[in-house]
Amino acid sequence: MSSEDQFADRLVLEGLAITTNDDGSPNVSPMGPLVDRALTTFLLKPFTTSQTFRNVQRGSGCVFNVTDDVVLLAQTAVGALPTLPRLESTPSGKGWYLADGCRWFELQIERLDLKEPRVDIYASVADKGTLRDFFGWNRAKHAVLEAAILATRVHILPSQEIREQLDRLTIWVDKTGGRQERDAIDFLQQYFRHELPPE
Ligand SMILES: Cc1cc2nc3c(=O)[nH]c(=O)nc-3n(C[C@H](O)[C@H](O)[C@H](O)COP(=O)(O)O)c2cc1C
Repeated sequence: MSSEDQFADRLVLEGLAITTNDDGSPNVSPMGPLVDRALTTFLLKPFTTSQTFRNVQRGSGCVFNVTDDVVLLAQTAVGALPTLPRLESTPSGKGWYLADGCRWFELQIERLDLKEPRVDIYASVADKGTLRDFFGWNRAKHAVLEAAILATRVHILPSQEIREQLDRLTIWVDKTGGRQERDAIDFLQQYFRHELPPE
């Protein structure tokens, strides 16, 4: 495949970006960078309001993690991690990856295109690792991912639309999910109950 084709076939990869906060602690956030299929280049598009952006702008390392852990995805989407997941330092010592994740990519930030409301962060892969297999396709996991995205848009989308989508997504979790997927959707439902105005 020529490099031109490679760039023409970009797609989004949903995962968790781990950066370093000002105080040295890790920040774990869901992000959906544009990638090429060979996963050699990443284009992160964080909102300027995100901690991920602030950390990268300050020069923090950034490790992108592929995981099928939907509880972690749900909790980090709304900034409500009860405890940090198990993290390992990358060999470079410049960042962390999820010890129980599937794959990780330590990103070398090449260029920031500062624009509102989302910044373009161009990155290449400095190092990477594979830890375990991805579980596989599952409608419940996909439904939690969609519900987690809804949770990050709770102050933008109409409440009625969120409720309707959540009802549909919950059916998929009930039909095809296991304990982890049900725990994740229960957690998000609680979040929506708290954040949405009463019906
Ligand atoms: C699957 C998924 C993908 C997301 N992708 C992005 C993204 O590409 N850019 C972004 O700014 N926010 C994205 N979000 C929302 C952020 O994760 C959310 O706003 C989070 O609170 C930001 O955390 P931070 O402030 O610690 O960086 C995504 C959320 C989910 C659930």
